[in-house]
Amino acid sequence: MMPLELYDYEPLVFGPGESPPLTSIEEEIIALKREKNAVLLAHNYQIESIQRVADFVGDSLGLAYKAAETDADVILFCGVHFMAETAKIVNPEKTVILPDMEAGCSLSDSCPADKLAAYKAANPGLYVVAYINCSAAVKALSDVICTSGNAVQIVKQIPEEREILFVPDQNLGQWVSRITGRPMQLWPGSCYVHVLFTVQSLERIRGQYPQAPIVAHPECIEMVRDMADEVCSTEKMIGFAREHPSDTIIVVTETGMIHRLRREVPEKTFIAGPTDTCACNECRFMKMNTIEKTLEALKNLQPRIELPEDLRSAASKPIQRMLDWSRR
Ligand code: 13P
Ligand code: SF4
Repeated sequence: MMPLELYDYEPLVFGPGESPPLTSIEEEIIALKREKNAVLLAHNYQIESIQRVADFVGDSLGLAYKAAETDADVILFCGVHFMAETAKIVNPEKTVILPDMEAGCSLSDSCPADKLAAYKAANPGLYVVAYINCSAAVKALSDVICTSGNAVQIVKQIPEEREILFVPDQNLGQWVSRITGRPMQLWPGSCYVHVLFTVQSLERIRGQYPQAPIVAHPECIEMVRDMADEVCSTEKMIGFAREHPSDTIIVVTETGMIHRLRREVPEKTFIAGPTDTCACNECRFMKMNTIEKTLEALKNLQPRIELPEDLRSAASKPIQRMLDWSRR
């Protein structure tokens, strides 16, 4: 049998380069932020233009801390819905806006709250660890929240005798379980972006750049994680890139991460981890926030995240536990 031909592509290579001057729309956003006493928090996967005008760009954990600490009146959150919702949960007095309310998350959608409630009812006594990529209703049903940046640290603090249910990402859960040695029940959810990286797609790019180390996100499947030199959250990828002696690094996560890496580690070259069908891998939800929608949201202070107080308060308890436990 003939082996399947892989599609032909040019690897996406980002070498050292200058950042272009601010555009008029970017300048308008910066001026409006001052006028409205707004802070712009952006996730590492946002488009470059949004990252350039943000006050803080980071991973889910860093963004949750920034949202909890800010004294701005308005939080303009450029990320996906569950991230903006987390900002509102920890900061109910503030106006929290998200440029596009449709910016969801396939992983969050894979764990509906009613299904989790039914599972808990049928299996009483479980200690529920929820990855932050879930709805407020799922957070409210959980004992503690974690992010990819602190999941190992959080799980290590759960009393030994408790049986753990990890929701909603089976890949992150499996990674944490392997590192901590804690057996866990895993909810069968996954991120549609990260599961597109395959052994085959990474073997090919590694063949083209044999000296470059691979850094991968724990939402990738186990066989892909096993090929990586380092598995970590998007924030920890910055430290890895800075410290690794190689001047070229293969980045196996959403391609927006490379904007942040280029700003923080400008002397190095980054190669986007390819999938079997594309040289890059973008999250369509993260990319729903455009620079135009960001400006409109700031002008109108809409669309806003609103939550019923009982739900907000129930969801805030496991988030607060996470923030406390990850300071330890
Ligand atoms: P990080 O917390 O590592 O930034 O990951 C968030 C995310 O959505 C990954 O797909
Ligand atoms: Fe959700 Fe995956 Fe997009 Fe992250 S990359 S927001 S986990 S769909």
